[in-house]
Amino acid sequence: MLVTLKEILSKTRTEGYGVGAFNYNDYEDAKGIVEAAVEEDAPVILMASMGAVKYMGLKHAAEMVKELAEKAPVPVCLHLDHATDVDLIKDAVRAGFTSVMIDASKLDYEDNIRVTKEVVEFARPYGCSVESELGTVGGKEEQIEAEDDVSGYTRPEDVPDFVGRTGIDALAVAIGTCHGFYKKEPKIDFDRLGKIVELTDCPLVLHGGSGVPEEDFKTCVKMGMSKINVGTELKAGFSRALREAVEKEPKEEFDPRNYMKYVIRTCKAIAKEKMQIFGSTGKA
Ligand code: G3H
Ligand code: ZN
Repeated sequence: MLVTLKEILSKTRTEGYGVGAFNYNDYEDAKGIVEAAVEEDAPVILMASMGAVKYMGLKHAAEMVKELAEKAPVPVCLHLDHATDVDLIKDAVRAGFTSVMIDASKLDYEDNIRVTKEVVEFARPYGCSVESELGTVGGKEEQIEAEDDVSGYTRPEDVPDFVGRTGIDALAVAIGTCHGFYKKEPKIDFDRLGKIVELTDCPLVLHGGSGVPEEDFKTCVKMGMSKINVGTELKAGFSRALREAVEKEPKEEFDPRNYMKYVIRTCKAIAKEKMQIFGSTGKA
């Protein structure tokens, strides 16, 4: 069933689990992720980035996941990820996305609040949830690029003001994770996370989940992290599975679905593993 981000994250803090948020770029990874959620009896968030929306088309990206969600006996949230373009966000809300992320993290504090508020005010009447980022997550993810620098980490003291004035449903925090492949082992600032958790009830989001060690995920969830984003690992898995399919299938094989099943299987396995680590198995 299709649900909002607010609904899907509502019990995460009280019950001590995190919901996996996975980037999809096509039908096969989306299908694998939803199948993983059904097998794990876990809530799940499917995220389309601006690049993915450009590639698939907004309506196609939305309808495909809506149909998968309608058939799934678990909560599924359809989320627009890292959107910097407010017009695109409005189109996504109208197209039935149940959650959008406004990424105004490159703007200064007051402008970030102003743009985030505009999105919240637009999305509310549609019953669509809003995530926004405070501080800047380092690394590179499609059009989003930032330095991995402590000066960009979320300042705990800003959090109550930001959450209160914007009315957001989830807050993305910069605490040491990075987008894309890690060049070195991530060093998460757990003290900072602890302070943020103490200062707000707003569900928190960890970006840059690919390559984060299992123990770090578990610590974050235990401390109160609600949503965990994973993208690069699925992209790499998708590509690896395609190569494997071409190697393993006989040259005579001409049905594309017999190649794509490798992709579905691989993306499903990646998502299942993460759901188990985040503790969302059995939480649907
Ligand atoms: O918003 C998407 C994520 O933060 C994914 O990050 O590609 O490093 O896993 P990742
Ligand atoms: Zn991200």
